[in-house]
Amino acid sequence: MNKLKEPVYVTRPLLPDVNDLYLEIQEIIESKWITNHGQKHNLLESKLEKVLKVPNASVFNNGSIALLTALKTLDLPRGSDVITTPFTFAATPHCISWNGLKPVFCDIEADTMTINAEKIEKLITPNTSAILPVHVYGFPCDVEKIDEIAEKYGLKVIYDAAHAFSTEINGKPIGNFGDVTMFSFHATKLYNTIEGGCLTYNNNELKEKIYNLRNFGIKNEEEVVDIGINGKMNEFQASIGLLNLKLFKKEQMERLKIKNLYIEHLSGIENIRIPKMPKNVTDSCQYFPIVIEDHFPLTRDQIYDKLKKCNILTRKYFYPICSDYRPYTNLKSSSVANLPLANAVKHKVLCLPYYGDLNSEIIVEICDILKSFSKIPLKILAN
Ligand SMILES: Cc1ncc(COP(=O)(O)O)c(C=O)c1O
Repeated sequence: MNKLKEPVYVTRPLLPDVNDLYLEIQEIIESKWITNHGQKHNLLESKLEKVLKVPNASVFNNGSIALLTALKTLDLPRGSDVITTPFTFAATPHCISWNGLKPVFCDIEADTMTINAEKIEKLITPNTSAILPVHVYGFPCDVEKIDEIAEKYGLKVIYDAAHAFSTEINGKPIGNFGDVTMFSFHATKLYNTIEGGCLTYNNNELKEKIYNLRNFGIKNEEEVVDIGINGKMNEFQASIGLLNLKLFKKEQMERLKIKNLYIEHLSGIENIRIPKMPKNVTDSCQYFPIVIEDHFPLTRDQIYDKLKKCNILTRKYFYPICSDYRPYTNLKSSSVANLPLANAVKHKVLCLPYYGDLNSEIIVEICDILKSFSKIPLKILAN
């Protein structure tokens, strides 16, 4: 295995043409309006409503503040429980905790690694106020079952769709499920505004509340009506967002080609599983995770280290899982007995490099390296 001259990263940000960006910035500078619900901010919101096919989209300076605000908007009783998944990024349980709520971890599905809807019901108590599922890697949660449970027990549902930009389930856009959905527009996401995010929701009555909460709770020059925060997206972020809206579909097409190439070259390898997007779902193309099963000659960590030595930088995404984080280890729901699948998968999953202009020769090289690992005799590994 030769070390590649340049590092191959797990992702690269989608970026607009510098001349197009220059024109956008020129307009901002001339307007002298650089933040606080500017023209580009407002235009981005209306364009996102069309692209995501949702009645309401409110943009934020990042996805975490958007998620914090979503939870605050729904007025969940302080100290109540929010059922969520441990197989997610730190922001998901942290936003629950920052709202004075308690995360309760629920195990995941083997195939899609999303929250196991069947197990949610067993975790519900009189103290449960909401469910916060994550469409991890763009795999949609079992939205029908989750909606059914929420209705039965009178719970709110906030979806974390940080990985699922533009995903549709049976033709229904993903931002239409639950009470509120959060999208992240961080640089590592398929569609980015450098840092950024948005909330989508069907209930028009939430619009004013979200607007106020995003701006310190200020309703007008003389009234502060809520304990808000500064969640405003500035005009520079919004202009990147407007330009990237024109580019993300092409990026998705390129990523789909890459995914197919990976599948073509990896599918014969025993004990490497490629989680499949269900047929009725449009793929956001956010990540390309593989699962290294127990009988593969090398462990996920050994593969990660060996690829790193070749300058191929994969991600153990998600390892550790949130129930392993110090603030959460004492929770009853963090026990391994409660989360057997999440605790097994965290040692097996690996996200491979995945972005539009990733060279196909490099993809084949990565697959060839993995193929060569699959031929290592198990007894050599034991030494
Ligand atoms: C699943 C998930 N939720 C929330 C976030 C937080 O979003 P942001 O980085 O925009 O604050 C991220 C990623 O960054 C994420 O991957």
